[in-house]
Amino acid sequence: MKHFISMEDITNEEIYQLLEMARMYREAEYKITKQTFVANLFFEPSTRTKTSFTVAERKLGLDILDFATETSSMQKGESLYDTVKTFEAVGAECLIIRHEDDEWSKALNKKINIPIINAGSGKKDHPTQSLLDLDTIYQEYGYFKGLKVVIAGDVKHSRVARSNAQMLSKLGAEVYLTAPDHFTETELGYPYIPIDEAIGICDVLMLLRIQHERHEAKSNSTLNYLEEFGLTKKREKSMKPRAIILHPGPVNRGVEIDTSLVECQRSRINKQIENGVYARMAILTKQLLEWKVINKTDIVKVKPRIVATKKQKAN
Ligand code: CP
Repeated sequence: MKHFISMEDITNEEIYQLLEMARMYREAEYKITKQTFVANLFFEPSTRTKTSFTVAERKLGLDILDFATETSSMQKGESLYDTVKTFEAVGAECLIIRHEDDEWSKALNKKINIPIINAGSGKKDHPTQSLLDLDTIYQEYGYFKGLKVVIAGDVKHSRVARSNAQMLSKLGAEVYLTAPDHFTETELGYPYIPIDEAIGICDVLMLLRIQHERHEAKSNSTLNYLEEFGLTKKREKSMKPRAIILHPGPVNRGVEIDTSLVECQRSRINKQIENGVYARMAILTKQLLEWKVINKTDIVKVKPRIVATKKQKAN
């Protein structure tokens, strides 16, 4: 049994199982019939991850325990460990945690006896984002081996870059990085190439948000950023015909990407958010099964999901 903390710990086989489960949840409605309590403990701001976990949990029929740092006993000085231990004692059976500390999981790993899912740890890991990104790529291409994936932007401060580079590389994709000098991180071990070369070769362009909140000093990092390092309209025209654009969000429009491209034909930015719900349903299920909180027989198919055809959508 392991917590879902880092893509470092996840095998290729587990990824394909999770992608298959996400597909299953996209195509039909399932419920977990055993009453199961989960808590979303977000100590850092979030829109996408928190709401998509909430939707994923509600779709599965899980009971969500309320938590907000501002109204919790953390205001009286309670630590992360004691807060988490309290949730375990009160009856939570799975915890979703986001925290600014790169290593928050180390203090909890062996001491918490219910599954923990990492919803973002500092600049280190964002495994659930990575799974939804993999799902989005897999839906598009149906394979990873040999795909050229360029991760572009604030690599140095990005947990999305780390999680995705690790997993995509394990799955056989060719990972390239492109970043201004002040945003490079050589430790990652993937080749850096200039932005204009990167744009021309990629099958997947994964843009990164500039992580102002993690910068040590305030800088003019957005000045001329779009023209020098971002996806301009001119650069988009030199992408391969089938290449797609990803961005974990939130997007700094006009900085990492020209605002007119955020919803362009090759953008999958909103698709990523949609896929996040099913990817997180899959991760929740995997963890609840692995930790024997539920059995397979507790998962019941309710009905097929009605997927609108192109014609119905047009009407
Ligand atoms: N991609 C992502 O983690 O977005 P949020 O910070 O809005 O959750």
